Amino acid sequence: MAGLETRRFLIVTGKGGVGKTTVCAAEALAIAHKGKRVLIAMCNAKERLSAMFGSDLVGTEPMPVAPNVWAVNMTPEVAMEEYGMMTLNSRALYTLLFDNKYVRAFFGAVPGMHEWAMLGKAWWHTTETLDNGAFKYDVVILDAPATGHGLDMLRVPKVILDVAPPGILRRDAEKAWTLFQDEKTCAVVLVTLPESMPTQETIELATSLRDELKLPIGKVVVNCVLPPLFSKAERQTLEDAGLGPNDEVKSKDDAAIQVGAARAARERVQAECLARLSKELPVSPSFLPQLFEDAARPEAIAKLAKRVG
Ligand SMILES: Nc1ncnc2c1ncn2[C@@H]1O[C@H](COP(=O)(O)OP(=O)(O)O)[C@@H](O)[C@H]1O
Ligand SMILES: [Mg+2]
Repeated sequence: MAGLETRRFLIVTGKGGVGKTTVCAAEALAIAHKGKRVLIAMCNAKERLSAMFGSDLVGTEPMPVAPNVWAVNMTPEVAMEEYGMMTLNSRALYTLLFDNKYVRAFFGAVPGMHEWAMLGKAWWHTTETLDNGAFKYDVVILDAPATGHGLDMLRVPKVILDVAPPGILRRDAEKAWTLFQDEKTCAVVLVTLPESMPTQETIELATSLRDELKLPIGKVVVNCVLPPLFSKAERQTLEDAGLGPNDEVKSKDDAAIQVGAARAARERVQAECLARLSKELPVSPSFLPQLFEDAARPEAIAKLAKRVG
C-alpha cells in the first residue's frame, strides 16, 4: 500500500491518552520531510502540540509550527462562523442571521452540528488553493476525538447524506464523504498501546470503521512499545517463580526475580496484544518505542518521526 503522504486526509483516532496527538506530530514531520505541506487540525483540544513543536500556542487560525507543517485548533463556534461566512459570502448577512444567541443555541442543539462544523472545516482545508493553483496543504491530518466521540464525529456526514435536503450542507458533506471513503485519498490511522484494554477497543473501533462506516484503515500505530529483554522461555521461567508484585520478598535474589517477573509479565502482555492486533486488523501494525523522557518536546517528536517514516 502507498505511504500516508499520498493521501489528502488522515484521520488519527484511538482511546484517550494513547498518543494520538504525538502520532499526529510525528507523522506530520515525517510527511513534511518528504516535501509535502501538512496541516494538523485539532478538535477543540487542550492544546499541547505547541510544546511538541516548540512553537507559539496554536489557536483557531492555521499557523506554521515547523518547516512545511501548520496547525490549527478548531472550535465549533469559530468553525460554524467561518462556514456561515463562506456560504453566505457576507459578514453583514452572517451577523444578521447567525450572530444571535437563539440561532447559536439552535445549532448547538442539532445533533452532530458541532462535530460537522469541525470535521467539515478540516475537510475544507483540503480544498484550499494557493495563488499558483496548487493545494495549500497536500495533506490534512485530523487529530480526531477519542474512540466513541471520534466515531460519532465520523458518522455525521453519512447522517447528513441520509437526511439533509439538497443544498450547500449536503453538497459539502457529499464531497467530504467521497474523499474520506476512498483509500487513495484518505486513511484512518488507529493509535493504540500494547495493553489489553486499548487492544480490545482498537479491534472494536476497526470493526465499526470497516463494517458500518466503510472508511479505509491505512495504518495502525502501536505506541509505547518496550524493547523485549527476555525470550518467551525466559519470560515463562520468571513468571513461574511465583513472585507477584505484591508478594513479600525475603532476599535480594527474590527482589531481583520479582522485578524481572514484572517486566516479563509486561512483555508477555505486549507480545499477546501485538499478535492479536496482527491477526485481527486489516493492516499489520507499526510500532513506536516507549521513550524514557518527556515525549512532548521537539527532540522527542523528531526521534519518533524517524521511526514512523
Ligand atoms: N512513545 C512515547 N513515549 C513516551 N511518552 C509518550 C509516547 N507517546 C506519547 N507519550 C506521552 O503520553 C502522553 C499522552 O500523549 P498524547 O499524544 O497527548 O495522547 P492523546 O492525544 O491520545 O491524548 C503525553 O504526555 C505524551 O508526551
Ligand atoms: Mg490529544
